Amino acid sequence: MRAVVASGTGGPEVLSVAEVPDVEAGPGEVLVAVAAAGLNRADLLQRQGFYPPPPGASDVIGMECSGTVAALGEGVTGLAVGDEVTALLAGGGYAGLVAVPAGQVMPVPAGVDLVTAAALPEVAATVWSNVFMVAGLRPQERLLVHGGAGGIGTFAIQIAHRLGATVLTTGGTAEKLAFCTSLGADVAINYRDEDFVAVVQEHGGADVILDNMGAKYLGRNVDALATEGRLVIIGMQGGTRGELDISALLRKRGAVIATTLRARPTEEKSAICAAVVEHVWPLVAEGLVKPVVHGTMPIEQVAEAHALMESGEHTGKILLTL
Ligand SMILES: NC(=O)c1ccc[n+]([C@@H]2O[C@H](COP(=O)([O-])OP(=O)(O)OC[C@H]3O[C@@H](n4cnc5c(N)ncnc54)[C@H](OP(=O)(O)O)[C@@H]3O)[C@@H](O)[C@H]2O)c1
Repeated sequence: MRAVVASGTGGPEVLSVAEVPDVEAGPGEVLVAVAAAGLNRADLLQRQGFYPPPPGASDVIGMECSGTVAALGEGVTGLAVGDEVTALLAGGGYAGLVAVPAGQVMPVPAGVDLVTAAALPEVAATVWSNVFMVAGLRPQERLLVHGGAGGIGTFAIQIAHRLGATVLTTGGTAEKLAFCTSLGADVAINYRDEDFVAVVQEHGGADVILDNMGAKYLGRNVDALATEGRLVIIGMQGGTRGELDISALLRKRGAVIATTLRARPTEEKSAICAAVVEHVWPLVAEGLVKPVVHGTMPIEQVAEAHALMESGEHTGKILLTL
């Protein structure tokens, strides 16, 4: 099979495509012939040598894909060879074939083409698990989404808006903020020249914050919370070591939670995928929540795709086709 290989750790130029031995489905796994793979920020970190795959996972980069079922491992039921699917992976997505625990394989939502479906597993699983399962966002609450024009952000805005929350978001340019508004954001804040804490507090504070920045925003995010607000940190784009005024959190009876999807056990990821299929796919099938794809590139352009994500010029997801 073709797969992306790395000549070492470093910049996008370490990546290229080579022929490697086919993978096979083990017991409880599904072999997927990959149509497309989605890029994630964690892929950039893995390429740089900062985010090794969890034990037992493929060392090929790639945490999500779409494709067709090529084979079923021992004990797998409910799927057939040829089914079109999308899958949440621990690794291995930038390849012609990938073996996935059956619980992390999901159908392609109605109305979405097979390539575009690769844009969905990570954003849907991350947003649903963090904003709804962990932080328990309720209709009529206020959600602050940092980085609203990114892959995660574009999905979080849409689903929270559709489920009745007020959505505030941050972004780096007027164009990106206008796009966030078109997706359903009620308040769009330019993080380069506005104080997001002041704007969010003018609106009563955030009941839930979905944060991609980590350390850099820790204190300011707590300042932006409403009473009983929940800050969920999923990214470390602003570093890992921050300082927190506990008294500010105490006064608000607030919560700070940090999670990562990739390292969760298969059973937990399977439960999240089942929840996504139950709660999110119907909204996608009705066209109420749409995958946002910045661009699709052939796998041979993997280095260019990584450079594009690093530039931050994209809006929504970047996909690689096999
Ligand atoms: N924990 C998990 O399980 C998990 C799973 C998936 C993703 N993540 C994390 O979620 C984050 C977003 O992922 P993604 O796929 O959406 O990446 P992405 O598409 O590259 O988006 C990155 C976003 O960061 C925003 N940003 C940059 N500087 C910012 C700042 N100072 N303040 C606010 N926003 C800023 C960008 O905004 P502009 O483009 O407007 O500048 C952009 O929207 C990443 O950190 C990723 O690692 C975590």
